[in-house]
Amino acid sequence: AAVPVLTIDGPSGSGKGTISRLVAERLGWRLLDSGALYRAVGYAAGEEGIDLSDAEAVTRCAQTVKIRFQASPDGGETRVLVNGHDATDELRTETAGAAASAIAVIPSVRQALVDLQHGFRKAPGLVADGRDMGTVIFPDAAHKFFLTASAAERAKRRYKQLKDKGLSVTLAILQREIEARDERDASRPVAPLKPAEGAVVIDTTGMPIEMVVEKVFAVVRP
Ligand code: C5P
Repeated sequence: AAVPVLTIDGPSGSGKGTISRLVAERLGWRLLDSGALYRAVGYAAGEEGIDLSDAEAVTRCAQTVKIRFQASPDGGETRVLVNGHDATDELRTETAGAAASAIAVIPSVRQALVDLQHGFRKAPGLVADGRDMGTVIFPDAAHKFFLTASAAERAKRRYKQLKDKGLSVTLAILQREIEARDERDASRPVAPLKPAEGAVVIDTTGMPIEMVVEKVFAVVRP
């Protein structure tokens, strides 16, 4: 039988990153943070001085970039190596999020990342976090989830995350940036942000993380 996949899609700040990590840990499954791939391509293209609207050059970059996830030796955050350079800190900024969203509208860039994403599907299972995990990349996933939350709450969560990591951000500006990114992700013609058919939709507004994890497990292991 195929290796089981659980997909968790949703907009930025919906809690899917944290929930995906906790669910993967509890199941003992691998984790795919697909957003990090788009961030890495945007970052690598920027480093090479490529104009992010130059579809051909960005596609070449997506086809050749070396992205590696490396467990942190002290049990901390997974590091992301882009062409050998630890870019973890650069990748988490909203600037990197916006660059990712800009290159993510290019169909050939998305195509270039398909095999890489499928490669994460290894026994005993995979939790896949992104925008199109349940709709495009793993349509045969056994369980599909779509997390949402109010725009105000999503901006507050992202604000807290970035602050905790020592970045200087303004809540009002961040909220505008996130709304612009979600709007672009939801309205693009290719692999738009939307719940997969049959996905369990969870509105996480005001919900503690543990409760969201429990809701996921109530579906996965009733
Ligand atoms: O999840 P994260 O905020 O890291 O994603 C950054 C951007 O990458 C998203 O705003 C979206 O444009 C793009 N993305 C995507 N498809 C995915 C994951 C992320 O288009 N599966």
